[in-house]
Amino acid sequence: MEKNVIIKYEDILKNKEIATYISKADLSLESMGYTDHSACHVTKCAEVVKQILTTFDYSSRDINLGQIAAYMHDIGNVINRHNHAQTGAVMAFRILDNLGLSSEDIATVVNAIGNHDEHDGFPVNNVTAALILADKTDVRRSRVRNTKHMDTDIHDRVNYAVKENKIDIDKENRTLTLRLTLDTEITPIMDYFEIFLQRMSMCNNAAKALNIQFKLVINEQELL
Ligand SMILES: [Fe+2]
Ligand SMILES: [Fe+2]
Repeated sequence: MEKNVIIKYEDILKNKEIATYISKADLSLESMGYTDHSACHVTKCAEVVKQILTTFDYSSRDINLGQIAAYMHDIGNVINRHNHAQTGAVMAFRILDNLGLSSEDIATVVNAIGNHDEHDGFPVNNVTAALILADKTDVRRSRVRNTKHMDTDIHDRVNYAVKENKIDIDKENRTLTLRLTLDTEITPIMDYFEIFLQRMSMCNNAAKALNIQFKLVINEQELL
């Protein structure tokens, strides 16, 4: 029997089961010393996905599925950090299948979740490309949980150094620009590239998949 339940992002936000997986996944990442992956990170990603897909005139269905994928994209971390994109996609499949979402819509969501990680992800469709851009550009001081390890942890140091993060989406010129204000007293710009080069290259490819250009501006200098 083909299911055809319409599930809105707003309904997913109220789902206690998903909220539990998000917070438990974040707790396990906290114990491993990772930056914030809480509801704050995933709802921010959902907001940016919505902005990207809305600006470039994608359908309301894609926007809704993109927000759902963004909200659920890191739940696989509750199983293990390694392969969390794929395990998260399988978890999302079970949850959304039980909620009655159609196989077509589930396919879009699990495609995006299973392909969001920089190690093996690929912008296989528009929703996935938007999720990659939203996830990989979320670098900010408030993701650092503890400033104790700043000397030894480059991720903490670089995130902490980002005083301002702004995403400019220009419909006319078809560009998405990540503008960062980086405190170079805390970390040199090279540190940013050391850990984010792979992610920025993934953003480049994701932008191409949406037929737009990805730009990176750090301290008013255009670097990409
Ligand atoms: Fe992730
Ligand atoms: Fe993420």
